[in-house]
Amino acid sequence: MSSEPVNVNDFKELARNALPKIYYDYYAGGAEDEHTLRENIQAFHRITIRPRVLVDVSQIDMSTTILGYPISAPILLAPTSAHKLAIPEGELATARAAAAANTIMILSYSSTCSMEEVASSCNAVRFFQLHISKRRDISALLVQRAERFGYKAIVLTADTPRLGRREADIRNKMIGFPVKNLEGLMSIDVESDQGSKLEAYYNELLDASIRWEDIGWLRSITNLPILIKGILTHEDATKAVEAGVDGIIVSNHGARQLDFAPATVSVLEEVVDAVKGKVAVLLDGGVRRGTDVFKAVALGAQAVLIGRPVLFGLAAKGEGGVRTVLEMLKNELEISMALSGCPCIKDITRSHVRTPYDKL
Ligand code: FNR
Repeated sequence: MSSEPVNVNDFKELARNALPKIYYDYYAGGAEDEHTLRENIQAFHRITIRPRVLVDVSQIDMSTTILGYPISAPILLAPTSAHKLAIPEGELATARAAAAANTIMILSYSSTCSMEEVASSCNAVRFFQLHISKRRDISALLVQRAERFGYKAIVLTADTPRLGRREADIRNKMIGFPVKNLEGLMSIDVESDQGSKLEAYYNELLDASIRWEDIGWLRSITNLPILIKGILTHEDATKAVEAGVDGIIVSNHGARQLDFAPATVSVLEEVVDAVKGKVAVLLDGGVRRGTDVFKAVALGAQAVLIGRPVLFGLAAKGEGGVRTVLEMLKNELEISMALSGCPCIKDITRSHVRTPYDKL
């Protein structure tokens, strides 16, 4: 594409051109047949917006709060690994873009910059995403470090007892990248003659035996709020509330784990209804337009997270690319709110959308 990007989807093409195929495929790919990957986007397309007219929309206010932290719009940066595959500055550039947009960055456990480096490079509100690994002492150490370096919440990813089968990585023999947060703490030597070394690496690292009871362990070692990421059913949403978490992220890991898991927006309301307003509910997966943000908020999400759009922005145009991606989504959300008769985020209600499951 020779012209300047005008929407978030344009960045995907730019990133494809900017990156070696092995890295582009790692960012873009999903599990197995990539059914869920397509569905995450298409499920948004099946929801229509029910606009109201003759409302004063001369001022639009997209600001909101997450766990008490004010943000400029309900759009956060999802935790994604290995930003140094996109540009040498990696997560430092992403964090500065988050700060410029006045939103929250969730730093991945598998970051290629350390949590200390990211903390000292920007003043964005940051959360830290955790996997509980077989070495419980190291998981505890990471949580303590996150606290010490000013991360404001722990996001426990619950959908990754082992890595999903990402066939592009297997075909490309994806070799992996240095997980900076583990440097000096843990090194894993993996051999994989066939397929992706990444899969072997994470399967060696991750503790597949963690259970709901282990949320109690996490609670016992930190005072930070805990969000649980990867909830897709009302059963698990109820368990999460009972386990005492402070928030739920409805997520299928960007369709990189279980193929044929449902599209996230199709199960959002099920989770919201189960939670009954007791904790915050956020959503990620397939958010590519301001109207997608609007739809998620209408169905009860406090905010959305974006994953691949950030990586594609970073790969295409560095920190400026991530800033542009965030600005584009915010501009689109602002227009959607104006054209739907919703001057503030709290004005966006369930009656502003129609889903395929609604009665006419
Ligand atoms: C991810 N995701 C992810 N999630 C997580 O909890 N820890 C991680 O380290 C990563 N790493 C990661 C790498 C890449 C390349 C992608 C695409 C995704 C999942 C991520 O947080 C989020 O759930 C999805 O990216 C959201 O879907 P979209 O916005 O990419 O469609």
